[in-house]
Amino acid sequence: MQQEQATAQGTRRAPEPPIHGPEGFEGMRRAGRLTAEALDVLMEATQPGVTTEELDKLAYEFAMDHGAYPASLLYRGYPKSICTSINHVVCHGIPNDKPLREGDIVNLDCCLILDGWHGDSSRMAYVGEVPRKAQRLCEITYEALMRGVAAVKPGGSTNDIGRAIQTYAESERCSVVRDFCGHGLGRIYHDAPTILHYVEASYDVPLKPGQFFTIEPMINLGRPAVKVLGDGWTAVTRDRSLSAQFEHTVAVTETGVEIFTISPKGLHQPINPAA
Ligand code: MF3
Ligand code: CO
Repeated sequence: MQQEQATAQGTRRAPEPPIHGPEGFEGMRRAGRLTAEALDVLMEATQPGVTTEELDKLAYEFAMDHGAYPASLLYRGYPKSICTSINHVVCHGIPNDKPLREGDIVNLDCCLILDGWHGDSSRMAYVGEVPRKAQRLCEITYEALMRGVAAVKPGGSTNDIGRAIQTYAESERCSVVRDFCGHGLGRIYHDAPTILHYVEASYDVPLKPGQFFTIEPMINLGRPAVKVLGDGWTAVTRDRSLSAQFEHTVAVTETGVEIFTISPKGLHQPINPAA
Protein backbone atom coordinates (compact mmCIF):
# COMPACT_ATOMS: atom_id res chain seq x y z
CA MET A 1 0.00 0.00 0.00
CA GLN A 2 1.16 3.54 -0.82
CA GLN A 3 2.47 5.27 2.26
CA GLU A 4 0.81 8.72 1.88
CA GLN A 5 -2.13 7.20 3.72
CA ALA A 6 0.12 6.29 6.61
CA THR A 7 1.36 9.82 6.97
CA ALA A 8 -2.18 11.11 6.73
CA GLN A 9 -3.24 8.71 9.45
CA GLY A 10 -0.33 9.77 11.58
CA THR A 11 -0.99 13.48 11.35
CA ARG A 12 -4.78 13.48 11.22
CA ARG A 13 -6.88 11.21 13.41
CA ALA A 14 -5.92 7.60 12.72
CA PRO A 15 -9.00 5.36 12.54
CA GLU A 16 -9.13 2.67 15.24
CA PRO A 17 -8.08 -0.70 13.79
CA PRO A 18 -11.10 -3.03 13.82
CA ILE A 19 -11.12 -5.94 16.29
CA HIS A 20 -12.34 -9.17 14.70
CA GLY A 21 -14.02 -12.15 16.37
CA PRO A 22 -14.01 -15.93 15.73
CA GLU A 23 -16.00 -15.55 12.51
CA GLY A 24 -13.31 -13.22 11.16
CA PHE A 25 -10.54 -15.64 12.13
CA GLU A 26 -12.36 -18.47 10.33
CA GLY A 27 -12.91 -16.35 7.20
CA MET A 28 -9.28 -15.19 7.16
CA ARG A 29 -7.93 -18.72 7.64
CA ARG A 30 -9.80 -19.81 4.52
CA ALA A 31 -8.91 -16.75 2.44
CA GLY A 32 -5.28 -16.84 3.58
CA ARG A 33 -4.93 -20.53 2.83
CA LEU A 34 -6.42 -20.15 -0.65
CA THR A 35 -4.06 -17.25 -1.39
CA ALA A 36 -1.10 -19.36 -0.26
CA GLU A 37 -2.26 -22.22 -2.51
CA ALA A 38 -2.51 -19.81 -5.45
CA LEU A 39 1.05 -18.65 -4.79
CA ASP A 40 2.21 -22.28 -4.63
CA VAL A 41 0.79 -22.76 -8.15
CA LEU A 42 2.45 -19.54 -9.37
CA MET A 43 5.81 -20.43 -7.81
CA GLU A 44 5.81 -23.82 -9.54
CA ALA A 45 4.99 -22.18 -12.89
CA THR A 46 7.79 -19.60 -12.66
CA GLN A 47 10.71 -20.42 -14.93
CA PRO A 48 12.75 -18.88 -17.75
CA GLY A 49 10.61 -18.13 -20.84
CA VAL A 50 7.32 -17.85 -18.97
CA THR A 51 5.65 -14.44 -19.20
CA THR A 52 4.21 -12.63 -16.21
CA GLU A 53 0.95 -12.34 -18.16
CA GLU A 54 0.79 -16.16 -18.22
CA LEU A 55 1.26 -16.19 -14.44
CA ASP A 56 -1.47 -13.54 -14.13
CA LYS A 57 -3.85 -15.70 -16.17
CA LEU A 58 -3.06 -18.70 -13.94
CA ALA A 59 -3.88 -16.62 -10.86
CA TYR A 60 -7.16 -15.39 -12.34
CA GLU A 61 -8.21 -18.91 -13.31
CA PHE A 62 -7.21 -20.27 -9.90
CA ALA A 63 -9.39 -17.62 -8.24
CA MET A 64 -12.36 -18.39 -10.51
CA ASP A 65 -12.00 -22.15 -9.98
CA HIS A 66 -12.13 -21.64 -6.20
CA GLY A 67 -15.00 -19.17 -5.88
CA ALA A 68 -12.63 -16.30 -5.14
CA TYR A 69 -11.86 -12.92 -6.73
CA PRO A 70 -8.44 -11.23 -7.14
CA ALA A 71 -8.55 -8.06 -5.02
CA SER A 72 -6.12 -6.13 -7.22
CA LEU A 73 -8.18 -6.57 -10.42
CA LEU A 74 -9.65 -3.13 -11.27
CA TYR A 75 -8.62 -1.88 -7.81
CA ARG A 76 -8.13 1.89 -8.35
CA GLY A 77 -7.79 1.07 -12.04
CA TYR A 78 -5.08 -1.61 -11.60
CA PRO A 79 -5.49 -3.86 -14.67
CA LYS A 80 -4.33 -7.31 -13.49
CA SER A 81 -4.96 -10.06 -10.93
CA ILE A 82 -1.45 -10.12 -9.43
CA CYS A 83 1.64 -7.89 -9.22
CA THR A 84 4.89 -9.22 -10.67
CA SER A 85 7.94 -7.17 -9.65
CA ILE A 86 11.20 -8.15 -11.30
CA ASN A 87 14.76 -7.28 -10.12
CA HIS A 88 14.90 -3.51 -9.43
CA VAL A 89 11.09 -3.23 -9.43
CA VAL A 90 10.11 -2.63 -5.80
CA CYS A 91 6.39 -3.43 -6.07
CA HIS A 92 3.22 -3.15 -8.21
CA GLY A 93 4.89 -4.41 -11.40
CA ILE A 94 2.15 -5.03 -13.98
CA PRO A 95 2.19 -8.45 -15.70
CA ASN A 96 3.10 -8.20 -19.39
CA ASP A 97 4.16 -10.34 -22.37
CA LYS A 98 7.92 -10.20 -21.71
CA PRO A 99 9.38 -13.63 -20.92
CA LEU A 100 11.15 -14.08 -17.57
CA ARG A 101 14.89 -14.50 -17.97
CA GLU A 102 17.35 -16.84 -16.29
CA GLY A 103 18.82 -14.96 -13.31
CA ASP A 104 15.77 -12.76 -12.63
CA ILE A 105 14.25 -12.55 -9.18
CA VAL A 106 10.52 -11.91 -9.25
CA ASN A 107 8.06 -11.01 -6.52
CA LEU A 108 4.62 -12.61 -6.98
CA ASP A 109 1.98 -10.66 -5.03
CA CYS A 110 -1.53 -12.07 -4.80
CA CYS A 111 -4.57 -11.05 -2.79
CA LEU A 112 -7.70 -13.20 -3.03
CA ILE A 113 -11.13 -12.32 -1.69
CA LEU A 114 -13.01 -15.40 -0.46
CA ASP A 115 -16.50 -14.99 1.07
CA GLY A 116 -15.67 -11.32 1.56
CA TRP A 117 -12.37 -11.89 3.44
CA HIS A 118 -8.98 -10.82 2.04
CA GLY A 119 -5.83 -12.98 2.06
CA ASP A 120 -2.78 -10.98 0.92
CA SER A 121 0.67 -12.49 0.44
CA SER A 122 3.76 -12.27 -1.71
CA ARG A 123 6.95 -14.23 -2.26
CA MET A 124 10.17 -14.10 -4.26
CA ALA A 125 10.79 -16.72 -6.92
CA TYR A 126 14.17 -17.37 -8.53
CA VAL A 127 14.07 -17.70 -12.30
CA GLY A 128 16.55 -20.49 -13.01
CA GLU A 129 20.05 -19.90 -11.62
CA VAL A 130 20.19 -16.58 -9.77
CA PRO A 131 23.33 -14.57 -8.82
CA ARG A 132 24.48 -15.07 -5.24
CA LYS A 133 23.90 -11.40 -4.27
CA ALA A 134 20.28 -11.62 -5.45
CA GLN A 135 19.78 -14.81 -3.43
CA ARG A 136 21.30 -13.12 -0.40
CA LEU A 137 18.86 -10.18 -0.73
CA CYS A 138 15.89 -12.56 -0.96
CA GLU A 139 17.07 -14.51 2.09
CA ILE A 140 17.54 -11.31 4.10
CA THR A 141 14.10 -10.06 3.07
CA TYR A 142 12.42 -13.32 4.09
CA GLU A 143 14.21 -13.26 7.43
CA ALA A 144 13.19 -9.59 7.86
CA LEU A 145 9.53 -10.52 7.30
CA MET A 146 9.68 -13.39 9.78
CA ARG A 147 11.39 -11.21 12.41
CA GLY A 148 8.60 -8.67 11.91
CA VAL A 149 5.99 -11.43 12.34
CA ALA A 150 7.72 -12.69 15.49
CA ALA A 151 7.53 -9.18 17.00
CA VAL A 152 3.69 -9.24 16.93
CA LYS A 153 2.10 -9.72 20.34
CA PRO A 154 -0.80 -8.21 22.31
CA GLY A 155 0.43 -5.35 24.48
CA GLY A 156 3.10 -4.49 21.93
CA SER A 157 2.80 -1.87 19.21
CA THR A 158 3.36 -1.46 15.48
CA ASN A 159 6.82 0.02 15.98
CA ASP A 160 7.97 -3.34 17.44
CA ILE A 161 7.45 -4.73 13.93
CA GLY A 162 9.23 -1.87 12.18
CA ARG A 163 12.12 -2.03 14.64
CA ALA A 164 12.63 -5.78 14.18
CA ILE A 165 12.69 -5.41 10.39
CA GLN A 166 14.78 -2.24 10.17
CA THR A 167 17.40 -3.30 12.72
CA TYR A 168 17.96 -6.60 10.97
CA ALA A 169 17.92 -5.31 7.36
CA GLU A 170 20.31 -2.46 8.13
CA SER A 171 22.65 -4.77 10.07
CA GLU A 172 22.94 -6.66 6.78
CA ARG A 173 23.78 -3.38 4.97
CA CYS A 174 20.45 -3.31 3.14
CA SER A 175 17.81 -0.56 3.23
CA VAL A 176 14.08 -0.52 4.02
CA VAL A 177 11.69 1.11 1.53
CA ARG A 178 9.71 3.93 3.18
CA ASP A 179 7.13 4.72 0.49
CA PHE A 180 5.01 1.57 0.87
CA CYS A 181 3.66 -0.09 3.98
CA GLY A 182 1.64 -3.00 5.32
CA HIS A 183 -2.02 -2.46 6.14
CA GLY A 184 -4.96 -3.68 8.12
CA LEU A 185 -7.35 -5.90 6.16
CA GLY A 186 -10.33 -8.18 6.65
CA ARG A 187 -13.53 -7.49 4.77
CA ILE A 188 -11.75 -4.32 3.57
CA TYR A 189 -8.54 -4.53 1.45
CA HIS A 190 -6.67 -1.56 2.94
CA ASP A 191 -7.71 -0.68 6.48
CA ALA A 192 -6.12 0.54 9.73
CA PRO A 193 -3.54 0.00 11.14
CA THR A 194 -0.76 1.12 8.84
CA ILE A 195 2.29 -1.13 9.31
CA LEU A 196 5.57 0.68 8.69
CA HIS A 197 8.64 -1.50 8.14
CA TYR A 198 10.87 0.96 10.03
CA VAL A 199 10.60 2.86 13.30
CA GLU A 200 8.51 6.05 13.22
CA ALA A 201 7.93 7.38 16.74
CA SER A 202 5.09 9.67 15.56
CA TYR A 203 3.12 6.69 14.28
CA ASP A 204 2.78 3.85 16.78
CA VAL A 205 -0.44 1.88 17.21
CA PRO A 206 -1.04 -0.53 20.14
CA LEU A 207 -1.46 -4.17 19.10
CA LYS A 208 -4.60 -5.92 20.39
CA PRO A 209 -6.01 -9.43 19.90
CA GLY A 210 -8.32 -9.58 16.89
CA GLN A 211 -6.43 -7.09 14.71
CA PHE A 212 -5.62 -8.35 11.20
CA PHE A 213 -2.91 -6.81 9.02
CA THR A 214 -0.19 -7.49 6.47
CA ILE A 215 3.55 -7.26 7.01
CA GLU A 216 5.25 -6.79 3.63
CA PRO A 217 8.77 -5.34 3.85
CA MET A 218 10.47 -4.21 0.66
CA ILE A 219 14.27 -4.37 1.11
CA ASN A 220 16.84 -2.90 -1.29
CA LEU A 221 20.49 -3.76 -1.82
CA GLY A 222 21.14 -0.03 -2.41
CA ARG A 223 19.42 3.16 -1.28
CA PRO A 224 15.78 3.16 -0.08
CA ALA A 225 14.48 5.77 -2.57
CA VAL A 226 11.90 4.67 -5.15
CA LYS A 227 10.11 6.29 -8.08
CA VAL A 228 6.87 5.34 -9.81
CA LEU A 229 7.01 4.91 -13.59
CA GLY A 230 4.71 6.57 -16.13
CA ASP A 231 2.15 3.74 -15.96
CA GLY A 232 1.23 5.09 -12.52
CA TRP A 233 1.93 1.77 -10.75
CA THR A 234 5.39 0.26 -11.29
CA ALA A 235 7.69 1.38 -8.45
CA VAL A 236 11.45 1.00 -9.06
CA THR A 237 14.56 1.76 -7.03
CA ARG A 238 15.95 5.18 -8.01
CA ASP A 239 19.49 3.79 -8.00
CA ARG A 240 18.35 0.68 -9.94
CA SER A 241 19.60 -1.59 -7.17
CA LEU A 242 17.85 -4.93 -6.64
CA SER A 243 14.75 -4.98 -4.44
CA ALA A 244 12.93 -7.90 -2.80
CA GLN A 245 9.68 -8.33 -0.85
CA PHE A 246 7.85 -10.98 1.16
CA GLU A 247 4.37 -10.58 2.61
CA HIS A 248 2.15 -12.43 5.08
CA THR A 249 -1.32 -11.70 6.40
CA VAL A 250 -1.37 -12.14 10.19
CA ALA A 251 -3.59 -11.73 13.24
CA VAL A 252 -2.76 -10.60 16.74
CA THR A 253 -3.95 -13.38 19.06
CA GLU A 254 -4.38 -13.55 22.86
CA THR A 255 -0.87 -14.99 23.13
CA GLY A 256 1.03 -13.75 20.06
CA VAL A 257 0.51 -14.05 16.35
CA GLU A 258 -1.24 -16.29 13.82
CA ILE A 259 -0.09 -16.38 10.17
CA PHE A 260 -3.00 -16.85 7.74
CA THR A 261 -0.95 -17.26 4.53
CA ILE A 262 1.39 -20.17 5.29
CA SER A 263 2.29 -22.16 2.15
CA PRO A 264 0.81 -25.70 2.30
CA LYS A 265 3.77 -26.80 0.16
CA GLY A 266 6.39 -24.98 2.21
CA LEU A 267 7.22 -22.68 -0.72
CA HIS A 268 7.27 -19.39 1.17
CA GLN A 269 11.02 -19.14 1.51
CA PRO A 270 13.07 -17.86 -1.44
CA ILE A 271 13.58 -20.77 -3.78
CA ASN A 272 14.01 -21.86 -7.32
CA PRO A 273 10.75 -23.79 -7.69
CA ALA A 274 11.94 -25.66 -10.77
CA ALA A 275 15.20 -26.89 -9.17
N1 MF3 B 1 0.19 -6.17 -1.46
C1 MF3 B 1 0.06 -4.96 -2.23
C2 MF3 B 1 -0.67 -3.93 -1.40
O1 MF3 B 1 -1.40 -4.29 -0.53
C3 MF3 B 1 -0.68 -5.24 -3.49
C4 MF3 B 1 -1.20 -4.06 -4.21
S1 MF3 B 1 -2.23 -4.54 -5.50
C5 MF3 B 1 -2.50 -3.15 -6.41
O2 MF3 B 1 -0.50 -2.74 -1.57
F1 MF3 B 1 -3.55 -3.34 -7.08
F2 MF3 B 1 -2.69 -2.11 -5.61
F3 MF3 B 1 -1.45 -2.92 -7.15
CO1 CO C 1 -0.71 -5.89 0.82
